[in-house]
Amino acid sequence: MTAVKAKPTSNLLNDYHLLSFDSLDSTNEEAKRLAKGGGCHGAVIWAKHQSEGKGRMGRSWISSDGNLFVSVLLQPEKPMADLSQLSFVAAVSVLEALESLLPDGNRLQCKWPNDIVLNDRKLGGILLESFQSGQPYETNSGKKPWVVVGVGINVDSHPPRTEFPATCLKDAGVELVSAKIILSRFIHHFIECYNLWNTKGFAPIRKKWTTAAWGMEKRLSARLPDSIIEGICQGIDAKGSLLLKLDSGKQHQIHAGDVFPVEPVQV
Ligand code: BTN
Repeated sequence: MTAVKAKPTSNLLNDYHLLSFDSLDSTNEEAKRLAKGGGCHGAVIWAKHQSEGKGRMGRSWISSDGNLFVSVLLQPEKPMADLSQLSFVAAVSVLEALESLLPDGNRLQCKWPNDIVLNDRKLGGILLESFQSGQPYETNSGKKPWVVVGVGINVDSHPPRTEFPATCLKDAGVELVSAKIILSRFIHHFIECYNLWNTKGFAPIRKKWTTAAWGMEKRLSARLPDSIIEGICQGIDAKGSLLLKLDSGKQHQIHAGDVFPVEPVQV
């Protein structure tokens, strides 16, 4: 799909450039098209309307107008294996962007691997997509990878009847705050968190993420492609894998999947 009216609206700090669109199929798809056409590290692609929003694991992302849809295109000087850490960078940035907007009594958390949870309901999600380009990558003589960090936040509305219940900022009492305002706060915090990750590595991001982790010390069920594993959540390891303590007492690392509470949460 061809993008409708790309309007560079402002330059953000250092390498960051905002491209705002009235309508796109998916901001992640636009970021990938941009990368394939020569690309620009630090491009921030924002669309007010998204017609084919993508979620994790091939799911679609219900994109109602008024919510935030944004993708950041990056070409970090890091090996491909480290890039999944950027979903934690994005999650922490979303939390920092939203915390001070929420009235007292609301609980904002990060849910492994890529979700933002407010009062035990899903407020937002992150879709990370990475791929190699044709350009030489000096530090490993391979190709320098691109990564698209796509973030969706339910600002004005949320989808009904989802398996893990959803919510939006409006339902939590955040009034008169537009997607555009959330965008500018998110970018501000993303720049800080990205620079922290880039210079100091994953450890400080892991620490921030763990402080706000949903489900810690709770019994969770992890749905993997070919099995379901239950255990007590013990946080994430130094690579971002989820740690579950099994009934045998052994610690198990989950590298990819979806997690749910074993006891349904009362919301
Ligand atoms: C998930 O929880 O499944 C991840 C959802 C990610 C949605 C965002 S909205 C902006 C960006 N563009 C997309 O098509 N998807 C991501």
